[in-house]
Amino acid sequence: MNLRPPARTASFLLALALLSAGCSGGVEGTPGAAGLRDPYFPGLGNGGYDVTHYGLKLDVDPAADRLRGTATITARATQDLSAFHLDLAGLDVESATVAGRPAAVNRAGKEMTLRPAGAVEHRLRKGRTFATVVRYSGSPETLTDADGEKEGWLRTADGAVALGEPTGSMAWFPGNHHPSDKAAYDIEITVPEALTAVSNGELVSRRTEDGRTAFRWRTAEPMASYLATVAVGRFATEESVTPEGIRLFTAVDPESAAASEDVLGRIPAVLKWSAGKFGPYPFASAGAIVERTGDSTYALETQNRPVFPGPPDTALLVHELAHQWFGNSVTPATWRDMWLNEGFATYAEWLWAADHEDVPVEESFEEAYQNDANWAFPPADPPNAVDLSDPPVYGRGAMVVHRVRLAMDDDPAFFALVRGWTKAHRHGNASTDDFTAYVEEETGQDLTGLWDAWLYGESRPPGEG
Ligand code: TRP
Ligand code: ZN
Repeated sequence: MNLRPPARTASFLLALALLSAGCSGGVEGTPGAAGLRDPYFPGLGNGGYDVTHYGLKLDVDPAADRLRGTATITARATQDLSAFHLDLAGLDVESATVAGRPAAVNRAGKEMTLRPAGAVEHRLRKGRTFATVVRYSGSPETLTDADGEKEGWLRTADGAVALGEPTGSMAWFPGNHHPSDKAAYDIEITVPEALTAVSNGELVSRRTEDGRTAFRWRTAEPMASYLATVAVGRFATEESVTPEGIRLFTAVDPESAAASEDVLGRIPAVLKWSAGKFGPYPFASAGAIVERTGDSTYALETQNRPVFPGPPDTALLVHELAHQWFGNSVTPATWRDMWLNEGFATYAEWLWAADHEDVPVEESFEEAYQNDANWAFPPADPPNAVDLSDPPVYGRGAMVVHRVRLAMDDDPAFFALVRGWTKAHRHGNASTDDFTAYVEEETGQDLTGLWDAWLYGESRPPGEG
């Protein structure tokens, strides 16, 4: 899935047309765009193709702090392509082929340009599906994201963990790193025998040879690249199946094991409760990766199994599991739509507290309403990339959801609407406009006043939960 190609000026188009006509009689196509013009990260992602599958083979040696990788990226050209981009931060590219032929590679910052060689009949015509194979290696970078947090490839006490929101996944594999281009993944990680490698999806096989173990993980459902993860370490692992048939895989750092046992035991109950509110669990498997306290400073809703920086409490577990519906299955169209992730995940915490801890939703709403930090800016319009993970995206986002519930004045209808929303965009992308249009259509109400006051307004509107 991909964003619309960015609008171009007529003169730019003309220049491109003349360029390609000049060297090939107009059959070679044009270069794919170097970015998808995301409102917060304009250079993120690339135009001209749509990835359907990533095959990642990674050899990870934490002691030597080295990664060696082969990425096989299957994509469909959405225009005639003379060249195209992948996003990759750091690492050394050893070779690249496109459609089975060697490709010229150019690196400039986080943009990698591939220019396939070969005769005209091998060109990447619109609609063609082609494979790109990139061999690379090095010591992957820990990036600092806009809000100052560490992302990308983080070293842990006994290994490493990859955290990708919003732009970290380019530190460990080349790809179309924008949430709008979701794809299936096969991730194989080979590590020293004493270590375990955990990733998204289901464990397909585990094979030890010559002191190294290869773990093969498969994600058949579409995944945005920021939700891909690899965790390497000395984990205690557990596998089971919920009564609903969801496969569970948990990996816990032994130092966090005792303190995590009770809360991880609640995963089946939280999934069942969540499915009652939000609709069927969207994936074949679930679980958790619990690191040692201090290995990371925040949790992340990595697909199927969120990463926790030490033993989580129940509210955090509920939050990260809610993201499997809101964010992971229904993925933001751009980073401006992130309140759809965090607003719903925060609202899930309020709902859990109401059902299990005797804290009425009105009380959670009131507490959020009184918190000045939630009123710094409108949730659907953060002023800057640094603000994307600030309180308004979470707390005020949840208030928007609650105001929709109040506007409907009918709880069964409200929860039916929430389930309809996750069903309508299951395994796809959705924008804020999609959401407001959906709510208005389902309720038959003009809710302009609600959106203006709670979603887009600069100041705190009067009102209660
Ligand atoms: N999405 C994470 C959560 O709520 C928090 C988070 C981690 C985050 N890194 C981020 C949010 C970067 C925005 C940007 O569980
Ligand atoms: Zn969240």
